[in-house]
Amino acid sequence: MKIAIGSDHGGLRLKKDVIKHLEKKGIEVKDFGTYTEESCDYPDYANAVGKAVVAKEFDFGILICGTGIGISIAANKISGVRAALCSDTFSAHATREHNNANILAMGERVVGPGLALDIVDAFLGAEFEGGRHQNRVNKITDIEKEYSR
Ligand code: RB5
Repeated sequence: MKIAIGSDHGGLRLKKDVIKHLEKKGIEVKDFGTYTEESCDYPDYANAVGKAVVAKEFDFGILICGTGIGISIAANKISGVRAALCSDTFSAHATREHNNANILAMGERVVGPGLALDIVDAFLGAEFEGGRHQNRVNKITDIEKEYSR
């Protein structure tokens, strides 16, 4: 499994924990930045990770900012991205099972590192159930097409 990960300065510390956690499990991770605590703009990292996931260069993406809100809003502007902001493990596995989410977003200022790693495991350990959920995901794609320029 290959994971693309990115954060702004507000998510930097948690991102480092997540990378360490994934690498310990033998999962390949590419860090798209930011790499320092200097203030930066979360849409830049949402765009880099989102593009790489939609291009199928990675199985999933993980995006972290202070709240997880800005970076997930930005990522969801990319056609083909289904980024889910999760602060609990139920949502993390349910969004894979029902929404076929391809990016997990989290907020470093919202969840502690212990819970965050459980959320990552729940997300990556779950599978899309298809069936009636596929029909709903298809309708999300239809909306993207309707509003694409
Ligand atoms: C940065 O201060 C903060 O605004 C950002 O990390 C994020 O929380 C935005 O949604």
